[in-house]
Amino acid sequence: MNRLVVDDPAAAAAERIAAAVGQGGHIVLAGGSTPQQAYERVAAMNLDWSRCTVWFGDERCVPPEHELSNYGMARAALLGRLADAAPTVHRMQGELGPQDGADAYEQLLREQWGEGMPRTDLMLLGLGPDAHCASLFPGDAALDETQRWAVGVQQSGMEPWVSRITLTLPAINAAREVLFIVGGSDKAEAVARAFGGQPRRDAPASLVSPVDGTLTVLLDEDAAALLPSEARP
Ligand code: 6PG
Repeated sequence: MNRLVVDDPAAAAAERIAAAVGQGGHIVLAGGSTPQQAYERVAAMNLDWSRCTVWFGDERCVPPEHELSNYGMARAALLGRLADAAPTVHRMQGELGPQDGADAYEQLLREQWGEGMPRTDLMLLGLGPDAHCASLFPGDAALDETQRWAVGVQQSGMEPWVSRITLTLPAINAAREVLFIVGGSDKAEAVARAFGGQPRRDAPASLVSPVDGTLTVLLDEDAAALLPSEARP
């Protein structure tokens, strides 16, 4: 694991996203306010996304135009601003509900990767204050999934209290590069639990460990404040 403390995690993430866009390939977007800042910065770079395919790590079970929609956020911050340089976008259909929405996404992923690993090129993830990532919440059954790549989550572990669709750990850990983007003192405790010690089920982000890929955690000083000294970069 590569932990990096930077002034502006969103700006650093934007640079990394831009590099991935330059190479084409499969990029997985996260929800959340810190990822959103990264998307806004990438949008301003006017990149050609036409060789990319965009996927999502999780979605709230609401229609795409709903204010809670992760896709809606990504469209407003980035995807809707790309005009004729737009990627292929595979959104999670939150409006179908957690079960049918997850089934539909599983099918899309299988159409792309069949029975092989879903080898996405860049998997972006945020971190919740409870150390969740994507919609993998502490103690939830979704953490135990070993076969499926997308599952429904009936009850989210924190606000907003809507059901979700999420990629599973096997799908996340199949990525070539996983990049967490985390900023702010309200995340410091979660950062210490997720990236400062042993993997634990009450800190789902600590279970992210790419099988054959890299794991980078972009933090600002505030978010990194409670990392044990041996885990400090
Ligand atoms: C979700 C998100 C979630 C998010 C983190 C960080 O739909 O809830 O995908 O995993 O990335 O909670 O969000 P913030 O940056 O807003 O804290």
